[in-house]
Amino acid sequence: MAKSLSFTCTACGASFSKWSGRCDACGEWNTITQEAPLSAGPASKTLGSRRGTPVPLSDLSAAEAPPARTSSGMGELDRVLGGGLVPASAILVGGDPGIGKSTLLLQGAARFAQAGLKTVYVSGEEASAQVRMRAQRLGLAEAPVKLAAATSLRDILTTLETEAPDLVIIDSIQTVWADNVDSAPGSVAQVRAAAHELTTFAKRKGASVVMVGHVTKEGQIAGPRVVEHMVDTVLYFEGERGHQFRILRSVKNRFGPADEIGVFEMTGSGLSEVANPSELFLSGRGDPTPGSVVFSGIEGTRPVLVEMQALVAPTPHSQPRRAVVGWDGARLAMILAVLEARCGIPFAGLDVYLNVAGGMKISEPAADLAVAAALLSAREDASLPAETVVFGEISLSGALRPVSQTENRLKEAQKLGFTSAILPSGGKPGGSSGLSLTRMGDLTAFVGEVFGAG
Ligand code: TYD
Ligand code: MG
Repeated sequence: MAKSLSFTCTACGASFSKWSGRCDACGEWNTITQEAPLSAGPASKTLGSRRGTPVPLSDLSAAEAPPARTSSGMGELDRVLGGGLVPASAILVGGDPGIGKSTLLLQGAARFAQAGLKTVYVSGEEASAQVRMRAQRLGLAEAPVKLAAATSLRDILTTLETEAPDLVIIDSIQTVWADNVDSAPGSVAQVRAAAHELTTFAKRKGASVVMVGHVTKEGQIAGPRVVEHMVDTVLYFEGERGHQFRILRSVKNRFGPADEIGVFEMTGSGLSEVANPSELFLSGRGDPTPGSVVFSGIEGTRPVLVEMQALVAPTPHSQPRRAVVGWDGARLAMILAVLEARCGIPFAGLDVYLNVAGGMKISEPAADLAVAAALLSAREDASLPAETVVFGEISLSGALRPVSQTENRLKEAQKLGFTSAILPSGGKPGGSSGLSLTRMGDLTAFVGEVFGAG
C-alpha cells in the first residue's frame, strides 16, 4: 500500500501514486517529488509479536500492556504529559521561536535523566558547546544527559541505534534532513520523512522521542499538520514574548486528557513551575476598574482565574476597530451582536479592544458572560462589585447557559479570596462554596441587575 503512494508534494504534503507537474491538492507547480523509503529495516516488531493479526482485546497479555510512566518530578510538565512520560511514544512540542522550547526540554531531559532514563539530546540548531553553556546557566551541567549535534537523519538514527536511549530530544525537527528526500531541510517532505522515521524508531525500540517543531506564520507546525497526525502527543508552548509566563498546552494526547495546561515562569535561571496560576494571572490587580472582570475558567482538569480587560472608545474611523488578544475574534463579534440585538446596547461607532491579562489564551464559551460584563463595564464606565467572579455561556437568543464544573470554578474563586459570583441559573447548585451567588437566566437580566440599565 505504502508503495503506491511514492510521490509527495513538497508544499502541502499530499501523496500521489504518479508524478505530475502540478499538485492537485494545493495547485503548486513543480513541487511533486518521488520518495524512496529510507530504512527498510528488519521486519519490525513495532506493535508486538502478533502484529497485524487481530486478537481479542481481553487476550492482550500483560507483557504487551504499556510499561509504567516515568515522572520528571516537574509537576507542571508531568501533568501535561498525562501523568508522566510514556515509553514508545512520540511527542511533538511546538511553539514560536524564542519562546523557550529548548530551555524547557533541556530542563525536562535533565529531570528525566536524573529519574533514571538514558537520555540523548540531539541539537541541530546549536552546537554542543552552546547547549552545555545553557545547561550551566540552568544549573544542570552535572545532569547525566548525552549531547549530540547532528542534522542528518541517517547519522541520528545510527547514533540512536548504538546508544539505545530511553528518551531522545530532537531540537528541532525542521533542521533534520533525510538524504533520500529530494527537497530542502525544513520542507514538508523532509519534516514528514524525519518525523516518520523517528516515530517508527520510538515504537520499535520503546523509546520516548520528543521533537521540537517551530510554528510557521500560519500557526502550524511545518505547514500542514502532517506531523501532528503521526505523533501520539502534541504540546504547544505558548506565551507572549513580553511576559514571563509560559503555558505548555496539550492539544492532542493519546495517553491523557487533551487541553491540559502547565504554567511556567521564565526566569534568569530557566523555567520555574507555577503551581498556582490563578494567583499569578491575578497578581498586580488593584481596586476594581471599569472594563475589568475576573473570569473563573477551567483549563484541562483545573480551574484558572484570569482577568478579562475591555476598552471601549468612540472611533475616529468610519469602520470601528475590533481587536482581541487571547480570545476568539469571531466569538467577540457574536457577543457584541447579542448585546445589540437582545439588550439594545449598540457598539456601532465604538472601537472595542479585548485582552486576556497575563498572556493567557482562553477558548471556553464559558468566558462569554465575563466578556460581555467587561464590555458593558467599559462602555458604561462602571466597575463590577469588588471580589466577584463571572462565568457562563451566552446563546444567540441572549439566554445564559450553565457550564461544566461550576463547583470547581466557585471553589477556586473562594480559595483566592473572592466573595461573590455571577453565573447562569440552572445547572447544578453550587451551594457548598461559601460565595454569595447571583444566578441569571438571560443577558437582559444581567444588564439590568449589574448596570441598572436595559
Ligand atoms: P529558547 O529555549 O532558546 O527558545 P526556543 O528554543 O523556543 O527558540 O529560549 C529563548 C529565550 O529564553 C531567550 O530569549 C532567553 C530566554 N532565557 C531566559 O530568560 N532564561 C534562561 O535561563 C534561558 C536559558 C533562556
Ligand atoms: Mg531552540
